[in-house]
Amino acid sequence: MKVTVVGAGAVGASCAEYIAIKNFASEVVLVDIKEGFAEGKAMDLMQTASLNGFDTKITGATNDYSSTAGSDVAVITSGIPRKPGMTREELISTNAGIVKSVAESLIKESPEVIIIVVSNPMDTMTYLTHKATGLPKNRIIGMGGALDSARFKYRLAEALDAPISDIDGMVIGGHSDTGMIPLTRLATRNSVPVSAFISDERMEEVKQATKVGGATLTKLLGTSAWYAPGAAVSALVHAIANDSKKMFPCSCLLEGEYGLSDLCIGVPVKIGANGVEEIVEIELTDSEKEELASSAEAVSKTNGLL
Ligand code: LAC
Repeated sequence: MKVTVVGAGAVGASCAEYIAIKNFASEVVLVDIKEGFAEGKAMDLMQTASLNGFDTKITGATNDYSSTAGSDVAVITSGIPRKPGMTREELISTNAGIVKSVAESLIKESPEVIIIVVSNPMDTMTYLTHKATGLPKNRIIGMGGALDSARFKYRLAEALDAPISDIDGMVIGGHSDTGMIPLTRLATRNSVPVSAFISDERMEEVKQATKVGGATLTKLLGTSAWYAPGAAVSALVHAIANDSKKMFPCSCLLEGEYGLSDLCIGVPVKIGANGVEEIVEIELTDSEKEELASSAEAVSKTNGLL
């Protein structure tokens, strides 16, 4: 499998590293607009190969997409990250133009590519990628829900004082501080609902901490996070490579599912060789439906700024 990662900043480099370290891709191409930057990151990562035991070949290119030709998967991380105090939505004016031109350049070289969108505001950038490329909807995946669910599991494990491998949970809705919907009702520890172990009050704290997971890190780091976003991308690429049909919440184009259309927002999907192979419609309570509807309204409003 050949994977392109556009943007060799912290998130892009983490994507490349986590993909390479799992040793399932033959090639990862990093592309960046900053002269020599992607080449440097690629070289540094390649010098970890003998130490970390992978054979994936990582190369870098400065704003030249010819080396990305024939990619099976491309990850768009380009654009500016948010700074402390900023919302993801505030990045739209800068990032929309960048993401559009990157998506167009990618499909020129790799007409069959599956695109994973990471750039923020992620749901709107996923929608924009649809509009810019016209690719079938199964081939455009917004990464947010996979990341937000990992953060939810982290917070649940912390609250339950449990190992994360005991925990299961999902976050649907928009990838924003107010739009995320951690499905607390469905979260489990070893098949037992987590509500059996923590109070409603503690659960609410977990929910809120999950929703501002990215903002908390931005405040601590001075820029947005990269390890967990990189790991979430790598998990999605791995599911495509293995045709695993693994279920993740991802942002994808809805056409009536969950009563929503003409927007991309996080819902459970099965990821396999064809990208989004199925949108899974789970039964939601009335209050969860309300949360999803208001999250969708906010995403549509941001889409309107395109
Ligand atoms: C975050 C960015 C990647 O949530 O949206 O960390």
